[in-house]
Amino acid sequence: PIRRITVPQIAARKNGQPIVALTAYTAPMARLVDAHAEVILVGDSLGMVVHGLDSTIGVTMEMMILHGQAVMRGSQRALVVIDMPFGSYEESPAQAFRNCARIMAETGCGAVKLEGGARLAETIRFLTQRGIPVMAHIGLTPQASNVMGGFRTQGRDEASWPAHIADARAVTEAGAFATVVEGVMEPLADRITQAITAPTIGIGASARCDGQVLVLDDMLGLSGWVPRFVRKFGDLGPRAEQAIAAYAAAVRDHSFPAPEQTYRAE
Ligand code: KIV
Ligand code: NA
Repeated sequence: PIRRITVPQIAARKNGQPIVALTAYTAPMARLVDAHAEVILVGDSLGMVVHGLDSTIGVTMEMMILHGQAVMRGSQRALVVIDMPFGSYEESPAQAFRNCARIMAETGCGAVKLEGGARLAETIRFLTQRGIPVMAHIGLTPQASNVMGGFRTQGRDEASWPAHIADARAVTEAGAFATVVEGVMEPLADRITQAITAPTIGIGASARCDGQVLVLDDMLGLSGWVPRFVRKFGDLGPRAEQAIAAYAAAVRDHSFPAPEQTYRAE
């Protein structure tokens, strides 16, 4: 079997060769992403993208485990990182360890991701010292959207920069092997990336990061509305819609199934 990309290999990518990361939630999509990305993130965005929730707050451990298992089955080369859902790690380092260990044991993934900066440093240290590799996630943290009053780009006011830079330093000193930086202004992304030895993986955080991640469905054009920081590298939504409409028409006009799709004696 092909050996997967390891946590230390990603941690060492502070060298100008960008880390390519994408989300995937299912085995077939993981197979496609695995051929091109170094990191596959089973993001809790799956709650909104796949399950139709309004936010990531309602995502459960069971959802992350089922999708994590599917992505592990569909991939063989990329490092698979699974998001810890809201409520599964914030209470205490012990609670975080219990749930992270369960995710890792039941899926076989290589690492977990937690949202939060300095306030999570103690937890990140506790986990990494006990064999759980942690990717941090700072800047715009969607699980805190109820506190922040929505999804807002961070760092518009320069006075807020020191706190974000302190978050990056705190999670890195605590042992995070890489940090997702979401929704921050370019100069702040630049400062954060320069402030830490671990790579930054940006989303809506400019090119001043050591890697990039996007939600796969967004960049494929499968999501209805996408924010400005997403580039649609494909336009699969309208193409899927056309195919579905063609199927419906063919059933209605009796042109499907045709003889080629029909089992008959010769
Ligand atoms: O849930 C998610 O998909 C994420 C990435 C977009 C970073 O956390
Ligand atoms: Na997430």
